Amino acid sequence: MAKLPLYAAGITATFTTLLIAAAAEDAALLKQAQGIFQPLPKHMATAEFPITRERVELGRSLFFDPRLPDEKAVIDRLARIPGYAPVFKAAFPDEPQPMTLRNIATAVGAYERMLVTPSPFDAYLAGNQEALPPAAKAGLEKFINTGCVACHNGVGVGGGMYQKFGVVEDYWKATGSDPIDKGRFDVTKDPNDLYVFRVASLRNVAMTPPYFHDGSVATLPEAVKVMARVQLGVNLDDADIRDIVAFLQSLTGELPANFATAPVLPSGAVVPAK
Ligand code: HEC
Repeated sequence: MAKLPLYAAGITATFTTLLIAAAAEDAALLKQAQGIFQPLPKHMATAEFPITRERVELGRSLFFDPRLPDEKAVIDRLARIPGYAPVFKAAFPDEPQPMTLRNIATAVGAYERMLVTPSPFDAYLAGNQEALPPAAKAGLEKFINTGCVACHNGVGVGGGMYQKFGVVEDYWKATGSDPIDKGRFDVTKDPNDLYVFRVASLRNVAMTPPYFHDGSVATLPEAVKVMARVQLGVNLDDADIRDIVAFLQSLTGELPANFATAPVLPSGAVVPAK
């Protein structure tokens, strides 16, 4: 075997040191991410809430049905749409009176859990370094270090709390929202709830423009920019935004083909109440 000249051996050693350092950094980022986020569970059905085909179908109908806006009136309205009775019976065969708010929640829950499917980020959290491209890893690091994770964390990368939208400056100055929605305040009338909204889950966020409660922002890069500015007082540059968007794209799961489209709803106009 040819002997390496000394200087070449030195370069090889330096290169190896760099590789080891990069691998250590990768491992540290993964460990940090595992402390902040959790992967989706492999099986989302539980003994208490089994996901059956009939329940998913019912939940999907209820989710899309425009004939239902107000929770209290829901049962009353459902009872007056003839097509729903047999569908409830099929989804909850053991119950004599299956048309209950609890079962509606169970069915919609079953449907929503079908929508949330594991993404490349879940594979990464499970330990697969290759699951995320370098830009997404850089974006993850920026997402953590910029402070996004104060609100967007856990299984849903958000979705777990209410927070003010516009911590640093009024949100509508950045989004151009008109009219201005007062958020939870409109429901609770508590001044502490002024401009407080549910922190959006960022799973599948790349697939769901436009953004924010009023759809006031058209694109994901713009939404990221607005968030950094109004929630954290940070002006991200284009490279930061590109990396964070690459990370957010890694949260897209594969949807079962027929579940994202509107179903054929159980037939029947609402029968007028007597
Ligand atoms: C102080 C809490 C907080 C912080 C920090 C925060 N967010 Fe948000 N985020 C929210 C809230 C609340 C909403 C929902 C606003 C609404 O519905 O109008 C939201 C919504 C979003 C949305 C829109 C989702 C959708 O489907 O409409 C994106 C994208 C987003 N955040 C990304 C980020 C990024 C990137 C960062 C870091 C730069 C960040 N957020 C920091 C609270 C926060």
